Amino acid sequence: MTNYKQVIYQKFDFENPHTVHELSETTLPDIVPDDKVIVRMICAPIHPCDTLCAMGVVNGVEFPCVGGAEGVGVIEQVGKDLQDRWQSGQRVHVAANYLFGEWTNWNGVWSEYLLCPDNAMMAVPDGVADDLAAQFMVNPLTAYAMVKEFGLGPGKTLMQTAAASVLGKIMIRLGQIYDFDTINIVCRQESADELREEFGIDTVYVYDGSVESAKQMKQAIASDFPDRSIDYCIEAVGGDTLRICLEMLGPNGELYIYGSMTGDVTIQLNTVADIVMKNNALKGWSSQETWMRQTSDEEKHRCINELWELFQSGKLTMPESGQRFTLSQIKDAMVASCAPGRSGKIMLDCRA
Ligand SMILES: NC(=O)c1ccc[n+]([C@@H]2O[C@H](COP(=O)([O-])OP(=O)(O)OC[C@H]3O[C@@H](n4cnc5c(N)ncnc54)[C@H](OP(=O)(O)O)[C@@H]3O)[C@@H](O)[C@H]2O)c1
Repeated sequence: MTNYKQVIYQKFDFENPHTVHELSETTLPDIVPDDKVIVRMICAPIHPCDTLCAMGVVNGVEFPCVGGAEGVGVIEQVGKDLQDRWQSGQRVHVAANYLFGEWTNWNGVWSEYLLCPDNAMMAVPDGVADDLAAQFMVNPLTAYAMVKEFGLGPGKTLMQTAAASVLGKIMIRLGQIYDFDTINIVCRQESADELREEFGIDTVYVYDGSVESAKQMKQAIASDFPDRSIDYCIEAVGGDTLRICLEMLGPNGELYIYGSMTGDVTIQLNTVADIVMKNNALKGWSSQETWMRQTSDEEKHRCINELWELFQSGKLTMPESGQRFTLSQIKDAMVASCAPGRSGKIMLDCRA
């Protein structure tokens, strides 16, 4: 009988989401079920969506729920029905919202071991680092799916907020690879300097929430893109940032809300000037709800393979991970993941 530790939560806390998680112990079955594999987890990141789950603003959380949207592990045992598809020793990415087929609820990954069905896993190519593999889906696959969905390429312009986030950095690089322009909005000068240096780009703008910086940002973007209308915006900050981005969107533009780093989800819009008169669209994007539910498994496999190739060829890289914590340090890890200006994604080492 093997006992193992996992991080669970049994309540939401909108104000203090870092307080809800606790360490729990459970037992692996002696014999792996026919339709499952046993995965020994290696590591898993803490994403903003993990905080949102703990706040109670994400679909599909049923208590008690194991935390963690995604991670990487090694298969230890394979059930009888899956032996033609998976092998012991194989590295796999595991997604809490099963990536293939229809997902119903979160089956988190912050655990020493997982019992996984076939559709929760994707094989990790040799040579891909564990830290990259552990966070392949939430940010890289989301950014890549957006590029495909919007048909971004030469002549197109994408504006994005929270541009110094992992997703934002991947999007900047995808812009360089697929030859579309990115207009990158950040909330701190240090983040702007970092993006300019790391990607050799000038199109980074600081909006710190003040009226003056909104004015300066709008003038700078208008001057840098005089003949170019902004086709798409992906917005993850909320509040005034969202409203200002909508004002800057070009005619027939589309603004996708895909996060809310400020938590400010109620805003006043000029619906006539900024939506009706410009024929603009305001939409939501959630990888779980938008992409996973509406994309065939065949198309998902195609995107996944193309994205692995971008990483393997070195064209696309992942920002360095940040501080590492054990599963039993989950509360500190959650606090660290929300610290402003932290460098790199906080990682949980599931074996420690
Ligand atoms: N809907 C989806 O399917 C989906 C999928 C993936 C990600 N997301 C969303 O994408 C966003 C980025 O995710 P990530 O994992 O890439 O993030 P991340 O690497 O953890 O970075 C978070 C970013 O948010 C910025 N930020 C934090 N608080 C802010 C505030 N109050 N105002 C403005 N910016 C603030 C930070 O800026 P500094 O660096 O300057 O501190 C940082 O760049 C999140 O909102 C996440 O929920 C959504």
